[in-house]
Amino acid sequence: MNAISLLFLAAVYLSFHTKTCFCLAPFSQMLVLPLKTQELQSGSFPRSPNKLPFHHNVTLTVSLTVGTPPQNVTMVLDTGSELSWLQCNTTRVNQPTFDSNRSTSYSPINCSSPTCTNRTRDFSLPASCDSKNLCHATLSYADASSAEGNLASDTFNFGGSDIPGVVFGCMDSGFSSNSDEDSKTTGLMGMNRGSLSFVSQMSFPKFSYCISGFDFSGVLLLGEANFTWLTPLNYTPLIQISTPLPYFDRVAYTVQLEGIKVSDKVLPLPKSVYVPDHTGAGQTMVDSGTQFTFLLGPAYNALRNEFLNQTGKFLRVLDDPNFVFQGAMDLCYLVPQNITSLPLLPAVSLMFRDAEMKVSGDRLLYRARGEVRGNDSVYCFTFGNSELLGIEAYVIGNHHQQNMWMEFDLEKSRMGFAQVQCDLAGQRFGVYH
Ligand SMILES: *[C@@H]1O[C@H](CO)[C@@H](O)[C@H](O)[C@H]1NC(C)=O
Ligand SMILES: *[C@@H]1O[C@H](CO)[C@@H](O)[C@H](O)[C@H]1NC(C)=O
Ligand SMILES: *[C@@H]1O[C@H](CO)[C@@H](O)[C@H](O)[C@H]1NC(C)=O
Ligand SMILES: *[C@@H]1O[C@H](CO)[C@@H](O)[C@H](O)[C@H]1NC(C)=O
Ligand SMILES: *[C@@H]1O[C@H](CO)[C@@H](O)[C@H](O)[C@H]1NC(C)=O
Ligand SMILES: *[C@@H]1O[C@H](CO)[C@@H](O)[C@H](O)[C@H]1NC(C)=O
Ligand SMILES: *[C@@H]1O[C@H](CO)[C@@H](O)[C@H](O)[C@H]1NC(C)=O
Ligand SMILES: *[C@@H]1O[C@H](CO)[C@@H](O)[C@H](O)[C@H]1NC(C)=O
Ligand SMILES: *[C@@H]1O[C@H](CO)[C@@H](O)[C@H](O)[C@H]1NC(C)=O
Ligand SMILES: *[C@@H]1O[C@H](CO)[C@@H](O)[C@H](O)[C@H]1NC(C)=O
Repeated sequence: MNAISLLFLAAVYLSFHTKTCFCLAPFSQMLVLPLKTQELQSGSFPRSPNKLPFHHNVTLTVSLTVGTPPQNVTMVLDTGSELSWLQCNTTRVNQPTFDSNRSTSYSPINCSSPTCTNRTRDFSLPASCDSKNLCHATLSYADASSAEGNLASDTFNFGGSDIPGVVFGCMDSGFSSNSDEDSKTTGLMGMNRGSLSFVSQMSFPKFSYCISGFDFSGVLLLGEANFTWLTPLNYTPLIQISTPLPYFDRVAYTVQLEGIKVSDKVLPLPKSVYVPDHTGAGQTMVDSGTQFTFLLGPAYNALRNEFLNQTGKFLRVLDDPNFVFQGAMDLCYLVPQNITSLPLLPAVSLMFRDAEMKVSGDRLLYRARGEVRGNDSVYCFTFGNSELLGIEAYVIGNHHQQNMWMEFDLEKSRMGFAQVQCDLAGQRFGVYH
């Protein structure tokens, strides 16, 4: 068992408890915020321990203010992790920080507080007490790095509304900034189903977002989105299990995959390959914090073969066994640099229970920057092999959520999505200038 699964195990055992709601007063208002996709210079951005030390360039970020008087912060929206955190070590160079000393509404949480003792149980490492009797949290990552700081609360301001008492981690060490020096983000907003996640604290019945494919923009909507102009969504139930299993993340947004199609051809695999096994391995998570989509080996190989089969006539495969894009994507093509658009590609459909998500067009291939062979660019298939990353799950990443209205309906325990033109949706909400 590797370090990742050990941490994962710890997280699962800690989460074996009955849930109590510690929520703030239900927030009835709907909030609309602009969402940005942002390119990061670095290889990895720290997040929850049960995740791959993932390489990604693109994150979804939301800008807001925290504290009194308000300080601007930019946070990565992550449906795959729980604790929101801000970088609070103001001595760090080249990194935006939150200065807790300048906020009169900032309040550190002490160890005996129920927030510290009761609400940190889904964390992979238990919260501890520091020398000042404050609640100390350690976040560890799959690549063995970690970050530490205190749990604290402060006022968050979204779109003009003040929300006091939001709990987050005020981190003062860790997150080696070597590779992430010009990062433009101050922290991360945890959006999973754990008790301390931002959505759980706010008791939002649902939230939704849309990410544009072209202009790095999007919209995040916290609360009910009932607009007649919005395309009806296709819904698939969120899966929850009552028994803790070592590889199953119970606070993730889990859906049930039942098949995969390439154009009209369904991959010849039994449905059982998509069902979590007795260890919990094989869960399908919808994750805004991961860029691409990863499938377990058998499904990945079948998809790779079929996509290759259907594209072999008009695309040239990069024949270089030593080149694996981001460590997990080994189907790449040579595309002449002088072409203006990619040829028409067969769509890949992810068949969830009751709903299908179709990935088509340019979202199927991603240009590997800096990779040139002769007069050709290298483009890679945007589905990767989980096994090459050492993870035991299917992960639906944000690249395939582009131009989709993605709704996380906690109240009805379901996920809805539909294709929309995201820049137009943003205009309807007035978040673009
Ligand atoms: C915070 O952001 C607002 C709006 O973008 C901007 O007007 C203001 O100058 C920023 N404040 C600081 C201290 O950067
Ligand atoms: C806040 O102020 C205290 C006391 O002056 C100081 O020890 C601490 O380093 C400051 N923290 C930050 C993040 O600047
Ligand atoms: C810790 O916080 C709890 C609840 O907020 C409070 O009742 C208690 O007095 C605090 N203890 C100390 C040592 O500050
Ligand atoms: C904290 O959790 C324990 C065990 O689940 C429970 O007995 C206790 O009442 C909880 N404390 C609060 C303040 O909810
Ligand atoms: C804050 O960051 C500086 C520079 O990275 C580091 O030397 C220092 O130990 C950090 N402070 C704390 C309290 O971890
Ligand atoms: C959504 O809006 C329609 C028309 O305004 C209304 O009939 C319906 O009850 C609303 N649904 C919810 C869940 O609020
Ligand atoms: C694609 O699959 C079909 C039938 O499965 C097979 O006859 C054909 O040779 C394959 N084509 C390529 C290019 O692999
Ligand atoms: C691209 O360049 C090749 C020669 O390198 C040429 O044959 C082809 O016509 C060019 N295509 C376009 C679209 O310019
Ligand atoms: C990520 O972005 C940086 C600069 O924006 C670029 O140099 C690097 O090649 C990109 N990596 C990938 C995998 O696209
Ligand atoms: C690249 O294209 C140019 C112009 O079309 C041609 O002269 C050259 O030979 C090509 N280079 C390779 C490596 O194919």
